[in-house]
Amino acid sequence: MSLQPTLSVSRIKENLGTRLFGAEVLVFDEVESTNDLAKRHVGRGEGLILIADAQTQGKGRSGRSWHSPGGLGIYLSALLKPPTPHPAPLTLMAGVAGVSALKAFVARPSFEPFLKWPNDILTHNGKLAGILCEWCGGESGWLVIGIGINVNHRAADFPPSLAGQATSLQMETGAPIDRVELIRSLIVHLDREYHNWLLKGTADLVKKWSDHTEMFGKKITLRRGDSLFEGTAERLDGQGRLVVRLATGSEMAFDGGEATLSP
Ligand code: BTN
Repeated sequence: MSLQPTLSVSRIKENLGTRLFGAEVLVFDEVESTNDLAKRHVGRGEGLILIADAQTQGKGRSGRSWHSPGGLGIYLSALLKPPTPHPAPLTLMAGVAGVSALKAFVARPSFEPFLKWPNDILTHNGKLAGILCEWCGGESGWLVIGIGINVNHRAADFPPSLAGQATSLQMETGAPIDRVELIRSLIVHLDREYHNWLLKGTADLVKKWSDHTEMFGKKITLRRGDSLFEGTAERLDGQGRLVVRLATGSEMAFDGGEATLSP
């Protein structure tokens, strides 16, 4: 397979066939963070996709950074204005779209990425991709969905702090990946899953999300602010909250937090 060193807008947009996502695609060599840049591009409209070859201040969840070296990963943000006052499940939608895009792209039975609540994409070797959804300020109603995927990294490309915790598509499959083709798959799946959610609602999304996870029935520790909760991950409820059975036997539903699976 011939690798494309640069991310070509025309190749990304060619016959995409999407309804909303990818209405406009902007590609940058290097930005601080595609999410931050997307927030400044709200006026360009829904479905705008911003992609960077590298990020100098890539952001992860809970104030962490996202390792974003040039030429290796996918760093992509999409702008949306969901027509509902309850768009919290869109973070789950992005996870379903991400994992579906990866599975469709690799299409090998041995490659089985799965979701960890709320929207990490993992394999048994480590974290492959992460999602950071952010509001564009106050009541504006605009949402940025930011997705980072480790694509052509080798183990040595990750900093020591991520050793043994992060993996990449190339490390999983043993072959270099055409980032443009994977970006196209991601945009198509985002478009599909978003419209499915608009049409069928959160219950259907929760079912799909649940089909892509391995965490139910496992012991987890959930950190919310300064509080730690230990228990068993049971299921998602109808709103997409994680239901945990605590040691006391009672169930508690979480709408946010950091989940760690016990080894
Ligand atoms: C996580 O912590 O798992 C979320 C990582 C999200 C990273 C992506 S890369 C594109 C977008 N721009 C950012 O600064 N962050 C997100």
